[in-house]
Amino acid sequence: MPPESTALNLAVAEPALGPLPRHVAIIMDGNGRWAAKRGLPRLEGHRRGVEAVRRTVRAAIGLGIEHLTVYGFSAENWRRPADEVADLFGLLKRFIRVDLAQLHANNVRVSVIGDRPALAEDIRLLLDEAEEITCRNSGLNLVVAFNYGGRQEIVQAVRRLARQVRAGELDPEAIDMGTIAAALDTRGIPDPDLVIRTSGEMRVSNFLPWQTAYSEFVFLPDLWPDFDEDTFRQAIDQFRGRDRRFGGRSAKAL
Ligand code: IPE
Ligand code: IPE
Ligand code: MG
Repeated sequence: MPPESTALNLAVAEPALGPLPRHVAIIMDGNGRWAAKRGLPRLEGHRRGVEAVRRTVRAAIGLGIEHLTVYGFSAENWRRPADEVADLFGLLKRFIRVDLAQLHANNVRVSVIGDRPALAEDIRLLLDEAEEITCRNSGLNLVVAFNYGGRQEIVQAVRRLARQVRAGELDPEAIDMGTIAAALDTRGIPDPDLVIRTSGEMRVSNFLPWQTAYSEFVFLPDLWPDFDEDTFRQAIDQFRGRDRRFGGRSAKAL
């Protein structure tokens, strides 16, 4: 048995870190500002943003994260000039074409959330293919939120359930939180434990409003193209130091 003083020293050491997050969701913001700071076109910021996605996927695999959701294009991003929208679509297509084989080789499962029917056929087919090719992989689940809007997702879910009620397949009284979760694009994926947003903005921008009801948020000043494994680890350490209560009493309460 250790002497009592050792036990006391342990008690005042760093507080124990909680578990790793199973699901990390990232609002990858600040590509435009990264480029503007350097006098470069916004497209260059978006290109470097794709590099940051690659680094983040590698880091997530290394850390043993189960689900990583990245916000690539919001339902509101259509408000941007057409040339920037075209650039963002071009980069997604390139990312899938260039990276899919390697993601697959790394046992990554790719899932896509967002309004796919509204997208052009070439991009829709690429996204379908990425899901089909990787659907039996058992490693990291990389969830790409593209043309995604959380409120739009809820609207679609309500319509789906309403149709089932009209067809007599669903009793309105039987609808519970599980029914709604199962009608969302994220069905089967656990809620994010941790949401990271880069670029210093402290808002949610229509990202997973239902699913993040009890997520922990970490807002970082770094611009997305500068995000790396170190920044990722720091965000995860912040998360691991948090006291998640879910409305209950702190496990640390005396
Ligand atoms: C994030 O960077 C990428 C997308 C939203 C698609 P931004 O393009 O929003 O960069 P800022 O916020 O203008 O710096
Ligand atoms: C959120 O970033 C969307 C993505 C990261 C894809 P925005 O840059 O579009 O968000 P707002 O407009 O600043 O809220
Ligand atoms: Mg932005």
